Amino acid sequence: MGVNHSNLIPQTTPDDQVLDNALRPKTFGEYVGQNNIKENLRIVIGAAKKRNEPVEHLLFHGPSGLGKTTLAYLVAKELGANIRVTSGTALEKAGDVGSILTGLSDGDILFIDEVHRLNKAVEEVIYPAMENFKLDIVIGKGNSAKTLQIDLPRFTLIAATTKISMLSAPFRSRFGANYRLDFYNQSDIEEIVSRSARLLNVNIEKEAIKEVALASRFTPRVANRLLKRVRDFSQMDPERSSRASGPEGTHDSVASATSYGMDDTYITANTAQKALKMLEIDDKGLEETDRKILLAIVNNFDGGPAGLKSVAASISEEESTIEDVYEPYLMQMGFLARTPKGRVVTSRGFEHLGLKNKKPKLL
Ligand SMILES: Nc1ncnc2c1ncn2[C@@H]1O[C@H](COP(=O)(O)OP(=O)(O)O)[C@@H](O)[C@H]1O
Ligand SMILES: [Mg+2]
Repeated sequence: MGVNHSNLIPQTTPDDQVLDNALRPKTFGEYVGQNNIKENLRIVIGAAKKRNEPVEHLLFHGPSGLGKTTLAYLVAKELGANIRVTSGTALEKAGDVGSILTGLSDGDILFIDEVHRLNKAVEEVIYPAMENFKLDIVIGKGNSAKTLQIDLPRFTLIAATTKISMLSAPFRSRFGANYRLDFYNQSDIEEIVSRSARLLNVNIEKEAIKEVALASRFTPRVANRLLKRVRDFSQMDPERSSRASGPEGTHDSVASATSYGMDDTYITANTAQKALKMLEIDDKGLEETDRKILLAIVNNFDGGPAGLKSVAASISEEESTIEDVYEPYLMQMGFLARTPKGRVVTSRGFEHLGLKNKKPKLL
């Protein structure tokens, strides 16, 4: 599959995790956008505090990188509560979740990321725990086996998922509140880039902030990664401008730049454009794999409908990666549609690829 320099599947590299943590907002005030969710959470948290009760169980869902994990930490912080973090893949056996639950204290938060990955056995332990704060344990085997019920502390479960459709209806209904995170708008992303630049001691022109934001798929995590890559590029750029020894004409830009810290490089719109071009990210934030997906459907399936399996096979990419990482944004942009018969490239998608839509689509 060659080298993957995608900015979209980077959670696995320690470097990117460090970046995530370094730039993660520490207060609701620093958390840009998603105003409805913030307002609603403020009420939920305030009411729980007033009643001196734990907050009801909360579910955050939406595409990767939009700030679900961050919200979980912020809720814990706001409550002054301990947070225990785990994920749907880490909890393999009923006993795994049992021992975590019994180790909690009243008011603690249990955060389960990728909660759609929980298996049945673990879900069955979680249901009664969420509802009645009880845990059933089976002691012994066969005929002499006995079930013992023990009381659990009054904890709050916060769960996050990119795939709400994979949660069963009864599980979903056990959450007191359910929040859907949406893609951000351009000005929110610009604010996030600007904030991150400040934290990373990067000087960046207003126009460059705009360029980075435009390429960021309206997603904070992508914005932060691109900012870092653009910064790296700009430090290696032979034509780079610097405050100390920059070429003529840079002073005006510096004055109008959002300039922070002591770093002597600053990112101009021109550098940002060059860096994004080198990363093969186009003006709508699409990267190579996005274009491959669209082109595969156009070239091999006449624009669609094409099944996910076939698309995945024809570009040698994992189905789940296509579905979770690439498609949400392609659909948000109106380049791709999911129909009951399969994926279809829309006329907007054709247009973006610079192609003529051969057959009129029923869309
Ligand atoms: N609303 C926001 N304001 C500022 N930065 C944000 C916001 N949401 C997310 N981020 C940044 O994006 C990164 C990814 O967010 P995260 O909460 O890990 O996303 P998710 O859990 O939804 O995949 C965070 O580390 C943070 O730096
Ligand atoms: Mg997360």
